[in-house]
Amino acid sequence: MTLSLKLIGYPIEHSMSPWIHNEFLKRSNLEGTYELFEISPEESFEDNVTTLKKSVLTGFNVTVPYKQKIMQFLDEVDDTANLMGAVNTVSIRDGKWIGYNTDGIGYLRSLYAAYPFLKGVTNKRVLILGAGGAARGIFHALVNEGYNNIKIANRTLSRAESIIGTNKQALAISLEEAAEELHQFDLVIQTSAVGMNEPRSIIIVDRINEDTVVSDIVYQPLETHFLQLAKQRTPFIHHGHTMLLYQAQAAFEIWTGTNVNVSGMDMQIEQILKGR
Ligand code: ATR
Repeated sequence: MTLSLKLIGYPIEHSMSPWIHNEFLKRSNLEGTYELFEISPEESFEDNVTTLKKSVLTGFNVTVPYKQKIMQFLDEVDDTANLMGAVNTVSIRDGKWIGYNTDGIGYLRSLYAAYPFLKGVTNKRVLILGAGGAARGIFHALVNEGYNNIKIANRTLSRAESIIGTNKQALAISLEEAAEELHQFDLVIQTSAVGMNEPRSIIIVDRINEDTVVSDIVYQPLETHFLQLAKQRTPFIHHGHTMLLYQAQAAFEIWTGTNVNVSGMDMQIEQILKGR
């Protein structure tokens, strides 16, 4: 069987996903294609979905700005994606469109790949910076995994509170409080857009401990200003492009049932992104 996979979003011409999934196809000896299906905001989203519904597809990825918008066109949405209110992977089975979200699990897998000693130690004190869609995905993946000591810091406190909902083991705080309390965390995860293509850090990082693990999910630049500053205080740095790889691995698993070995691919992605 030849797999037919796509990515919908805008803009997507520089997406790493085609390279990643073509590599997965090769590594798992499967035949198939992974193509871009760009939908500009001026086009009718509904018309494009109708076109997709008519084509023979195995599944597709969904990226910005359609992760929420796609949900009304799905036949089923799995629990995780429902909790996150966003879908990044659609699998088509017997004509049914089923939505998933692999962003949170992708983050966790990439974190454990970089720092295996974190696996199974869920009493870590975690700080999430930012409260957008990415933060929501990571928060739910952490809670699902059993983490029970999480704070979310955001410029707009109500957005952090809305992610936490009724969870009694999590707390929303301001960015100023986060900077002040930074030494109290074992894992700090930067999820906001601050630092993307700009040398700026969302908070002052002077108080990070020497054994704190620090993630930034931004991967353009490959090492954000935030990570560069954090790196002066702790050796445990976790780069955003690895999350990209593992969310793709989890999506590929949903489509094919194959758990593809990704070894070495993080370095290859790094080289490709560096060459841009
Ligand atoms: P995504 O869904 O990709 O995570 P988003 O929903 O646009 O992106 O969320 C972006 C995050 O970056 C938000 O937490 C936003 O803070 P607000 O909720 O207060 O808007 C944060 N953010 C963006 N620009 C910021 C800035 N200049 N300073 C602080 N936080 C910022």
